Amino acid sequence: MPDIWQTLSAHLRATWGREPTFFVQAPGRVNLLGEHTDYNDGFVLPIAIDRAMRLAIAPSGDARVRLASLDLGQASEFDLAQPIARDPAAPWSDYVRGVATMLLDAGAVLAGFDAVLSGDVPIGAGLSSSAALEVAAARAFQAMSALQFDDVTLARLCQRAESEFVGVNCGIMDQFISLLGRRDHALLIDCRSLDYRQVPLPGDVRVVVIDSGVRRELVSSAYNERRAQCQEGVRRLRQHLPHIQALRDVTPADLARYGSELPPVVRRRCRHVVLEDQRVLDGVAALERGDGVADDVAVLGAALNASHVSLRDDYEVSCPELDVLAEAAWQQPGCLGARMTGAGFGGCTVNLVRADAVDAFVPAVQAAYQVQVGRVPPAFVCQAADGARATPANGTGPNLL
Ligand code: GLA
Repeated sequence: MPDIWQTLSAHLRATWGREPTFFVQAPGRVNLLGEHTDYNDGFVLPIAIDRAMRLAIAPSGDARVRLASLDLGQASEFDLAQPIARDPAAPWSDYVRGVATMLLDAGAVLAGFDAVLSGDVPIGAGLSSSAALEVAAARAFQAMSALQFDDVTLARLCQRAESEFVGVNCGIMDQFISLLGRRDHALLIDCRSLDYRQVPLPGDVRVVVIDSGVRRELVSSAYNERRAQCQEGVRRLRQHLPHIQALRDVTPADLARYGSELPPVVRRRCRHVVLEDQRVLDGVAALERGDGVADDVAVLGAALNASHVSLRDDYEVSCPELDVLAEAAWQQPGCLGARMTGAGFGGCTVNLVRADAVDAFVPAVQAAYQVQVGRVPPAFVCQAADGARATPANGTGPNLL
């Protein structure tokens, strides 16, 4: 049994005198392509990563949910039979409270549990540590209460927990991939229909994540502003294109024809989204062609690079530190593509690197960043992992890989 499960079990015993009955694990994610497209009904291509939120849980025997965070040294408790409020003293618990609220709202009958939790998804780095906690909570309730919801429904409920309970108006990508990720595969998600398809990743390519270390406060207001600008674009374009519901329905040709009538900022936001959807589909088509792997991955890599430029110049959600990381990566041999990933304004870049070049790639980008920014950015190679699991605690605990 990996140490972490022993550690969580020992704390569950020490804190509440209970033996765990389930181990729960929900991964973070890195998005390869398709940024700021999910809330425009578009396409995304994320992977679940081999870093996760982990819980050891035991039934509480009543309607109470008691949570202890090993990493923060904090506890929080709520009652499923009472109205559930946020906990300003332990805001991390709001993700669990929100999921409970949405499951109850959807008609679930929930049993309480005691849980000790710990995660190795860096917080605030754009790798979806909060979605990992929501999804872990959903799996925990599922294990304790034998819920019948399928994973797509759970993803929607977890997204609602974040937008309606926690108050961050996110799309569905993060919760979806944390639930439905697949080892060695990326997931092409159609964020309108919620259809999805596993896309195999080439064996000779590595996904490298490099953390700028930049954490910005105002991400959520800038995020909401972008959403509003996209909606404004749809509203205005509808004068010519009455059938459109979202930017997903606008083609590059539509934009070439009517874009000049939009205010310049709105035009740039729309251009990013419309072309980004196209990049996702082109990248996936290249990977799925499966002939001449090197060329196909080059198409995907070029799409990553173009995505970064578009996020920097048209969507304006990059920052100087992310630009330094992307530009340094582009210059390295064996780097197929690199870009900022997640909502932006800080956090990480995602880099597709030939396996035999990774050992030279990482220190070269770190050195360039140190020269220009003054610190060494943490970097790790991640593997595409399976989505969230709960397994009986008498076994070995869930594996991501
Ligand atoms: C955040 C949101 C996602 C998505 C990305 C941008 O991660 O939670 O839903 O919108 O930003 O692609």
